[in-house]
Amino acid sequence: MKAFDSIDTVAFAEGNTAVRIIDQTLLPGEVKLIDISKREELYEAIKKLRVRGAPAIGVFAAMALSVLSRSIGEKDKDAFLLELQKEADYLNSSRPTAVNLSWALSEMMKEAKASETDDVSAIIEHLYEHAVKIRDDEEVIEKKIGELGASLIKDGYGVLTHCNAGRLACLKYGTATAPMYIAHENGVNFRAYCDETRPLLQGARLTALELSDAGIDTTLNCDNMSSSLMKSGKIDIIFVGADRIAANYDTANKIGTSLLAIAAKHYGIPFYVCAPTSTIDESIKTGADIPIEEREPSEVTEMWYEKRMAPENIKVYNPAFDVTDHSLITGVITENGIHYLKG
Ligand code: MRU
Repeated sequence: MKAFDSIDTVAFAEGNTAVRIIDQTLLPGEVKLIDISKREELYEAIKKLRVRGAPAIGVFAAMALSVLSRSIGEKDKDAFLLELQKEADYLNSSRPTAVNLSWALSEMMKEAKASETDDVSAIIEHLYEHAVKIRDDEEVIEKKIGELGASLIKDGYGVLTHCNAGRLACLKYGTATAPMYIAHENGVNFRAYCDETRPLLQGARLTALELSDAGIDTTLNCDNMSSSLMKSGKIDIIFVGADRIAANYDTANKIGTSLLAIAAKHYGIPFYVCAPTSTIDESIKTGADIPIEEREPSEVTEMWYEKRMAPENIKVYNPAFDVTDHSLITGVITENGIHYLKG
């Protein structure tokens, strides 16, 4: 198996006519790179979580739009922009919660529309360059989040995280994992705990793989064991990622995050959200207005099991995200600093 940490989560394939990703649905068993260039396949890759995690989806969408811009075929600028907007809207409809998706697509559209040239091939080249910039900026942001967050991890700490807000959800350091990677690089001794993250097991399949692969002392626990870990004093700090942060800092992240925050408050454990500023959606006042994705019942009843583990026809509740009230959050760590809340 090729070491996955030497592979970019999202990249342009040779010739820049396809986006190359690690197919995350196959991890941890198989590290398979796939090149995607067709619009339906680009959409499907986001929808089916072949690429996932808010920042990675944003970078992927920017690259996908760059790839699609090459096959629009319109030579007239206005007609080209109209077609490009249709492709952006199509990609944007693949998943509703992570705001990085619409953020990256609207950044790309702004660049295309602001181009002073009427030469469509020059705009296409500019779109490619801008997608690369979004990618490169993301890497710098992750490191800054990591440096800020690492200052909070002390020798002997137990650090809990939920879902995968690691390099597979981002580019290099991740967001919630960035403090752990940097603290580890700085020689701090700590223990990482990963919630397995039902129903799609991003914690078990991805975070446990990433952190243990990096040489960090990593323990996997089922989601319903986190409170017991907290009670036994094994957890000193919690870092999670975010898919969309409202203007009042209510935070949508993987389903189960809010339960962790409630337990953390009970046990007096600091709870930090780590995210790039592109995840903050100032247009949304509170978490009540964040759109929450509902996914297939089969993810709960069948997926990962040899045979179905629930009665036929049972009603299933399967939201992919929940909203953690800002009052439960100690601080939000972005590339600009740690914003402390009352939580
Ligand atoms: O459904 P997923 O796997 O895309 O959900 C991912 C998460 O909830 C992450 O915690 C979030 O996107 C932050 S990634 C840095």
